[in-house]
Amino acid sequence: MRIGILGPGNVGRALAGAWRAAGHDVVIGSRTPDEVTPHDAGVPIVSTASAVDAADVVVNATPGTASLALLTSVGAPALAGKVLLDVAVGMTEAGDLSHLRESLGEELQRAFPDTPVVKTLCTIDRLVMIAPDSLEGPSTVFLSGEDATAKKTVRGLLHDLGWPPESLLDLGGIATARGQEHFSLLFLGIAGGLGSYRFGVRVVPLST
Ligand SMILES: NC(=O)c1ccc[n+]([C@@H]2O[C@H](COP(=O)([O-])OP(=O)(O)OC[C@H]3O[C@@H](n4cnc5c(N)ncnc54)[C@H](OP(=O)(O)O)[C@@H]3O)[C@@H](O)[C@H]2O)c1
Repeated sequence: MRIGILGPGNVGRALAGAWRAAGHDVVIGSRTPDEVTPHDAGVPIVSTASAVDAADVVVNATPGTASLALLTSVGAPALAGKVLLDVAVGMTEAGDLSHLRESLGEELQRAFPDTPVVKTLCTIDRLVMIAPDSLEGPSTVFLSGEDATAKKTVRGLLHDLGWPPESLLDLGGIATARGQEHFSLLFLGIAGGLGSYRFGVRVVPLST
């Protein structure tokens, strides 16, 4: 799979290394590719437009307050037909959620109707994203999106990060991304209580 990850930050670098190790053709997109530190594992860092152009799956690993503007600068035609795997959460400088009534995921899906958006992984620290078996037990990762084919593609990519099928919980349409993004507040609370960002949450249904 050709993957273009937008944002050479903490998340972008972690996912890039893991998917490259799984055999995917990965590039990272930056607004200033000549100015950023090279990737540890040598994943190429190219312009934002080149990363989108080279990809079947575009991963949004940029600040959620900046994602719409960045993707708009790329343009809907360049994104059309590609899956947009959206990891981002919008937080203000004061640490509040920027998207209160509508999630970033919904906003992006509305702005780019020909690009199926799948929100996932935003409830998990970057180091756990790529090493779910580093936790003491199984945990849950969520998916939100309208397009079944795009979700199937993303399920495959999650599998390649080490997430077994029983860990994946499809929440439904892209409107459910709001819950994933708003979980950030609880995530930060748990991290404060636990003294670590490296944890998972597990959905435990009633026994039958
Ligand atoms: N850190 C985590 O563990 C974690 C977990 C779950 C979700 N997330 C979400 O994932 C996204 C990425 O997180 P991160 O920790 O990787 O962030 P980060 O380290 O700050 O990296 C974000 C990258 O986005 C790019 N970018 C594009 N437009 C930007 C703009 N207008 N302002 C600033 N940067 C811009 C920057 O690269 P260039 O300047 O080179 O373009 C930057 O390297 C965020 O939305 C975050 O909420 C993070």
